[in-house]
Amino acid sequence: MSDELHKHGRFFDVWSKFYRTGPFGLELRRIQRIAIERLKILPGERVLDLGCGPGDGATRISETGGLAIGLDYSEGMLQAAAKVPALSGRLLRGDAGRLPFADGSFDKIVCTNSFHHYPNHIPALREMRRVLRPGGVLGLVDPRKDHLFGWAAIDLVENAVFGLEEVRIFSVMQWYRMLSECGFASSKVEVGPWWSPVERAEVFIQATA
Ligand SMILES: C[S@@+](CC[C@H](N)C(=O)[O-])C[C@H]1O[C@@H](n2cnc3c(N)ncnc32)[C@H](O)[C@@H]1O
Repeated sequence: MSDELHKHGRFFDVWSKFYRTGPFGLELRRIQRIAIERLKILPGERVLDLGCGPGDGATRISETGGLAIGLDYSEGMLQAAAKVPALSGRLLRGDAGRLPFADGSFDKIVCTNSFHHYPNHIPALREMRRVLRPGGVLGLVDPRKDHLFGWAAIDLVENAVFGLEEVRIFSVMQWYRMLSECGFASSKVEVGPWWSPVERAEVFIQATA
């Protein structure tokens, strides 16, 4: 595994100890729930929660009747997720850039506030496309470049303050181009509503394989 990956893993190992607490943690939970609701998961569907963090998303997917698998790179995050009994046997440690699944393994993928940390963005997006079945849907939320708060949170805080130089965010137009380049048949890239500052700073993507 690369040095960048280890560095990001350590950052999240520390964050995992207090990830759910505080107003920002609550806001991330809320945004994750919105992304999962928008995916309209049907009972029995195979759903990957990519960059699953402490497991709240995978738990929610299981509650809707979906067959959730959570994958994350951070051991700390996975240890937190492993405390949820419903996720027993459903968590994997791995890198989003090299997913350990066969082509077409999933009906849906949810990926919230994780993508900007991947050392290689295009290969990671291609991997998501590969492991989705034809017609499967990716629901991805990530901070966007064309918003001051997104820039401040990522380029200023994560990059400059925490030294995670590899973090990268993209504009709405860049997202459309990347999704098409990575083989998604159709996509919709929206920004959050103006009255919610954190949502407004993010892109909400639904892309069909
Ligand atoms: C801000 S947290 C988001 C967690 C969860 N998706 C949520 O919405 O609360 C980002 C997560 O992405 C994971 N992550 C970062 N880079 C990764 C990579 N290359 N492969 C897998 N997971 C990664 C981190 O370990 C962390 O748990």
